[in-house]
Amino acid sequence: MTSSYGDLRGRAAVVTGATRGIGRAVARALADAGARVCVSARDADEVRRTAAELDGVGLAGSVADTDHLRELTDLCLSAFGRLDILVNNAATNQPYGTLMDADALVWRDAFTVNVEAPLRLTQHAWHGWMREHGGSVVNICTEGAGHVGPGVGAYGTSKAALLHLTQQLAGELGPGVRVNSVSPGLVRTEMARFVWEPGEKDIAAGLPLGRIGEPEDVAQAVLWLCSDAAGWITGADLLVDGGTSVRRARTTP
Ligand SMILES: NC(=O)c1ccc[n+]([C@@H]2O[C@H](COP(=O)([O-])OP(=O)(O)OC[C@H]3O[C@@H](n4cnc5c(N)ncnc54)[C@H](OP(=O)(O)O)[C@@H]3O)[C@@H](O)[C@H]2O)c1
Repeated sequence: MTSSYGDLRGRAAVVTGATRGIGRAVARALADAGARVCVSARDADEVRRTAAELDGVGLAGSVADTDHLRELTDLCLSAFGRLDILVNNAATNQPYGTLMDADALVWRDAFTVNVEAPLRLTQHAWHGWMREHGGSVVNICTEGAGHVGPGVGAYGTSKAALLHLTQQLAGELGPGVRVNSVSPGLVRTEMARFVWEPGEKDIAAGLPLGRIGEPEDVAQAVLWLCSDAAGWITGADLLVDGGTSVRRARTTP
């Protein structure tokens, strides 16, 4: 691996949930840096459109479907002959209510999509390419995994598990493969619209950096972690949250 930050020419990447929001920005950033990208999401039209825009390839399907996960990594390997970067971005965050009322299927879905799929994809990437040639895996977690919140118990618990999975895999897959996570704060995407649309002004006012995140803020952090500039970083979680975790400590503007 010889590329520096911002130069991923010659690399190939799989990005899940890449048709909108953070995943789309990540796929765009990787492609702009020269990587060939293989994208996935459930909506086939959106997958076709995104793949065409990025001059990449795509496969429609759910990361909850184990066949889709194998076919996705196979597609990357057959289209580009390699699989250097895996970004596990797709996630589910359904309204769950309290954990005492959590439906078993909804709970299982959170863990299938948010935890098991990243593991299975990492297994396919490892056996298909990375074990022999090295690589970088980035899991998209959440700043919220570090604390509790109303109605997000299954999501938060699954993302906390993904943080632990990241560290466990980092321990298992080195030295050739680095495994890290990025934990966004509130970002302007569809998934989080129910939070930022009604409350953006107040939320932004409480943040040290004075604004909510844009998908590109997260994408640049992922790009850096994927690159050789982060070559001595594994098992790390990079908070990209505008200071959410420290809160604003100054009372006057
Ligand atoms: N936005 C935030 O404030 C925020 C904060 C912290 C963490 N995050 C994390 O950031 C990541 C991206 O979230 P986002 O806000 O960008 O979400 P988003 O705007 O809703 O986009 C989600 C993407 O994932 C795809 N997707 C959803 N479920 C899928 C499934 N089962 N299989 C395959 N693809 C699926 C969607 O396309 P289809 O619907 O067509 O499948 C879409 O491309 C997630 O891991 C989320 O937990 C977001």
